[in-house]
Amino acid sequence: MSDPYSIIWPLLRSIDPETAHRRALQALHFCECIPGQLGTELLERAFAVRDPRLAVTAFGLRFPNPVGLAAGLDKDAHAPGAFAAMGCGFVEAGTVTPLPQPGNPRPRMFRLIEDAGLINRLGFPGVGVERVRARLWKWRDGLPGGAILGINIGKNSSTPLEAATTDYVAVFDAIYDLAGYVAINVSSPNTQGLRTLQARDALTTIAGAVIARRDLARRAIGRRIPVLVKISPDLDEASLAAVIEACRDTGIDGVIATNTTTNREGLMSRHRGETGGLSGAPLSNRSRTVLDWLVREAGSTLPVVSVGGIMTAQDARQRLEAGATLVQVYTGMVYAGPALPGAICRELLRQ
Ligand SMILES: Cc1cc2nc3c(=O)[nH]c(=O)nc-3n(C[C@H](O)[C@H](O)[C@H](O)COP(=O)(O)O)c2cc1C
Repeated sequence: MSDPYSIIWPLLRSIDPETAHRRALQALHFCECIPGQLGTELLERAFAVRDPRLAVTAFGLRFPNPVGLAAGLDKDAHAPGAFAAMGCGFVEAGTVTPLPQPGNPRPRMFRLIEDAGLINRLGFPGVGVERVRARLWKWRDGLPGGAILGINIGKNSSTPLEAATTDYVAVFDAIYDLAGYVAINVSSPNTQGLRTLQARDALTTIAGAVIARRDLARRAIGRRIPVLVKISPDLDEASLAAVIEACRDTGIDGVIATNTTTNREGLMSRHRGETGGLSGAPLSNRSRTVLDWLVREAGSTLPVVSVGGIMTAQDARQRLEAGATLVQVYTGMVYAGPALPGAICRELLRQ
């Protein structure tokens, strides 16, 4: 039987990418809201692969499988339960900012079909942490299938870079009790200057402040929330080394590598000249190189979540074999559809 997504994809492709994205999230949210959990059960049956052999323990958490949804697909936590029911072992909501903000003017998301990529310059549009918290409250007792909820945190575009720590701490304080783990995003290319926060001193300040709040929170909720840092694929080796030092100095639990790239080498599609972050297949080699470097230099002490250009089950298997603790997908879900996490799990179960 042919994959139903191969029928839906030409329809989705014919509409503006951001509109298609919103419709897909609305449909998943609708599934979440059907009484008696009928919708999530349907997703579970259609897509999820459940097997205890897939479970991974990392940062003190038990992930039912190592395949997660990357940040940005469900920024405002419209449907984390649906993604979990579809078989994601973890779902990273966000990037969440303290206050609501509109993001950049549209159009701001482009499909690079011939390259199997996307370019986006969304700039963290979102409803702000208060409303995200209200939505996540529904999942306070856990996501379907035992999936872990990650919350990716960022700063508002209007907050000066010098005051960024205040924003990260504000979002952390507002949501920590609902998070399985928190990811500090200092690597989106679409918020001016954000990537400069990966420099050693800046990152040490931000990560140190969030970790200090985490340690206070631990006393309040009796649970230690792992804090990860998400990095750019465009860092050179000296900058990567500085990130590792900042992570070690502050007690960061792991690194998510990588965010989107501003590199445009080797693209064919007509949208290749658009400003923003490039994701999908063209990012794959660079994300893999960053993974290899991190595993070599810090793998024994700093677990790596590999993301960037994982388009197939084989791609995911290779990242895990290369030393990634977990993997995440975004653009692969757009091109291959919602069956991708399940396909990866099936591949991992194959000996
Ligand atoms: C449209 C779009 C929006 C994104 N928004 C965010 C975001 O808000 N926060 C973040 O940390 N990463 C964001 N990302 C980056 C993804 O989480 C991921 O790191 C990147 O796309 C590489 O993975 P992929 O090749 O599987 O898409 C976004 C990616 C895309 C395509």
